[in-house]
Amino acid sequence: MPKIPLVAMISGNGSNLQALIDAATEDAPFRIAAVISNRADAFGLERAQRAGIETRILDHREYPDRESYDRALMAAIDGFSPELLVLAGFMRILGEGFVRHYRGRLLNIHPSLLPKFKGLGTHRRALEAGEQIHGASVHFVTEELDGGPVIMQGEVAVRPEDTAELLASRVLKREHIIYPLTVRWFAEGRLRLEEAKILLDGQPLARPVVFDYR
Ligand code: GAR
Repeated sequence: MPKIPLVAMISGNGSNLQALIDAATEDAPFRIAAVISNRADAFGLERAQRAGIETRILDHREYPDRESYDRALMAAIDGFSPELLVLAGFMRILGEGFVRHYRGRLLNIHPSLLPKFKGLGTHRRALEAGEQIHGASVHFVTEELDGGPVIMQGEVAVRPEDTAELLASRVLKREHIIYPLTVRWFAEGRLRLEEAKILLDGQPLARPVVFDYR
């Protein structure tokens, strides 16, 4: 099967990137063509280099505004002709032009059960809200921040002794399962975004596919 090339974007540790690297085996339907970071000190860059993947650093602080940064990003990304763009802990907001350019081939993972807890501090906010179940979501990116249609979610049970850090580490383990799986489905041509709807194997997805905590 021909592999689709993807570009991953990171800002930090890159554990989700590592899960994708580990899943990009010889028989996988995708390959990671490049990893782009907005931070030179992102540990994920080391993970990529270790795996022999090309890396680029585009520091947003070197650009006068979001538009010019997004344009530079697009130029760098499109140089690798990716069929899929994967945000893996990329902590910059992307502008509308950028999101439109990659519509239907841009995925993000967010550490909450969307539509709950968009934005930052999700684990702390889930604890403060007394949630019994928390988790992570993989979604298509649209113009609305953390608001695009959700494909897959991984759930974890919240424990009485949980801190934001403990919860984050259990949620991350779910992330490392659901992100590679979603990417695989996309690469196999099973997933499509049509208007605001997700099609899985040609059928509208009524609700996200859920991996529960049991
Ligand atoms: C992950 O928990 C991811 O869901 C989150 O950042 C972490 C990155 O970890 N992403 C966001 O909050 C996006 N708004 P990683 O660098 O180890 O993959």
